[in-house]
Amino acid sequence: MVQAASLFLIIFILTDVASCKKVCSYQDVLDHLNLTTDNSVFRLTRPVLDHTHPTIVQLDIILYAILAVIEKTQTFVPFVWASMMWSNERISWDPAQFCGITQVSLPQDLLWKPDIFIYEMTQKDESPYNPYVYIFHDGTVATEQDVKVVSTCKMDVYKFPFDTQSCNISVSSAMHSVDELRLLPYSNSSRATQFSQKLMKSQGEWEFLQLAVINTSFTYEDKQWDQIIYKFTMKRRPLLHVINFLLPILFFLCLDIASFFIADHRGEKLGFKVTVLLAISVLLLILNDILPSMSNKTPLIATYCIVIFALMLLSLLETILVTYLMEKQSQKKLRDRQTRVQTDNCNPETRRQTCCSCICKPSDGERRRELLPAAEEVNRGLQSAESQVLLLILEELKDLQKTLNLHLSWREEEEGGREASVQYATRINRAFFIFYIIAVSLFLSLIFMQWNA
Ligand SMILES: *[C@@H]1O[C@H](CO)[C@@H](O)[C@H](O)[C@H]1NC(C)=O
Ligand SMILES: *[C@@H]1O[C@H](CO)[C@@H](O)[C@H](O)[C@H]1NC(C)=O
Ligand SMILES: *[C@@H]1O[C@H](CO)[C@@H](O)[C@H](O)[C@H]1NC(C)=O
Ligand SMILES: *[C@@H]1O[C@H](CO)[C@@H](O)[C@H](O)[C@H]1NC(C)=O
Repeated sequence: MVQAASLFLIIFILTDVASCKKVCSYQDVLDHLNLTTDNSVFRLTRPVLDHTHPTIVQLDIILYAILAVIEKTQTFVPFVWASMMWSNERISWDPAQFCGITQVSLPQDLLWKPDIFIYEMTQKDESPYNPYVYIFHDGTVATEQDVKVVSTCKMDVYKFPFDTQSCNISVSSAMHSVDELRLLPYSNSSRATQFSQKLMKSQGEWEFLQLAVINTSFTYEDKQWDQIIYKFTMKRRPLLHVINFLLPILFFLCLDIASFFIADHRGEKLGFKVTVLLAISVLLLILNDILPSMSNKTPLIATYCIVIFALMLLSLLETILVTYLMEKQSQKKLRDRQTRVQTDNCNPETRRQTCCSCICKPSDGERRRELLPAAEEVNRGLQSAESQVLLLILEELKDLQKTLNLHLSWREEEEGGREASVQYATRINRAFFIFYIIAVSLFLSLIFMQWNA
């Protein structure tokens, strides 16, 4: 009974060993392929058995992040994930023979790689380097790499900050023409856009719109090269620039319009306008930092600044003109008055004598009419010596009254002159104000229409 049991156990163990899975390592696959570090067959030449076969390279680029878009230097820095697939005709194995192993990862420098490069790239890539490639049992080799592409991109800043930029990354083989190497895109535009939008980590100032994939080819000296163009389209989020730049200038313009309601004299308005103009010119310095010096087309924002600056300058000049005219008029009034005062002011000695005589001689009709009724009474009633003194006092009083009257008329005249010159200034101001408002609203609506278009 015990013997039977032990026999059964032995049989069981034996069958177990027989059914045990075969153990495989990746090295077995490499040994099968004879892929060793000193075997240069895999490294040196394009991996085709017949040299007329082109190697087909499939390329995929997905956008991870837009790191920078610098208008001043026309630089576009996207962070992309790039993957490449090509076939190596020297590699193949049967996964069934190697416990179902279908892929093996290897150091990149064991194998030949296509010489793919980016035309627009201006700086060597310094992002972390992925040292491995995958080989598959059907001979496919796949590699992935994160690349920070510092590329040149011709940007159009005409509509800044309401602009949409598109930048190209053109990928092609450096040496191999279409006879040796075909370059095909792996994803079409809709897939690339969709994946990029899903993977996008940071968007920052830019809103990513589309990644278009265009496969073309170009000819150079009778040879043709395949080329894939990845066209990134993105839209600027203008909020920061609107808050930082457009609105302040608009506010200063409003202040300038409001300054028409400041009284013209004493130069306060002039000082205010000069201050506002200076504030705008400080803002213009910011613009210099952002925009590149473009020769062909003036950006709308530059037009915006310059025209508003010019309008405010015009209003400042108008204020100077009005101030000058008012000053001139009041000076003229002053001169007129001074000459009139010189002619009016008769010699007080002769005056007293004539007046005295007129009082003493009641027959002088013209003078008598000017006398106060009381004085006439006194003149009629009193002819004594004491009355002479009284008459003298009366005479002085009359003189005083006359002077007072004269002063009063001067004041009236002065007031009238001021009023006339103010009216004159008001008329100029009103005309200019209407012109200014029309010009400003016309210009603003025009330029915003341009920005919106
Ligand atoms: C493997 O490669 C080595 C070195 O290149 C060579 O000597 C050897 O003959 C190759 N073996 C096979 C089976 O191809
Ligand atoms: C990007 O590539 C497309 C397609 O070739 C081309 O029409 C466009 O002008 C290019 N854009 C830039 C900025 O080079
Ligand atoms: C793009 O590729 C996806 C699959 O990758 C496919 O479903 C879709 O129809 C393709 N779109 C176009 C426009 O070819
Ligand atoms: C573009 O790619 C398609 C397949 O994705 C291919 O059929 C076509 O020939 C390519 N066009 C060019 C000009 O290479």
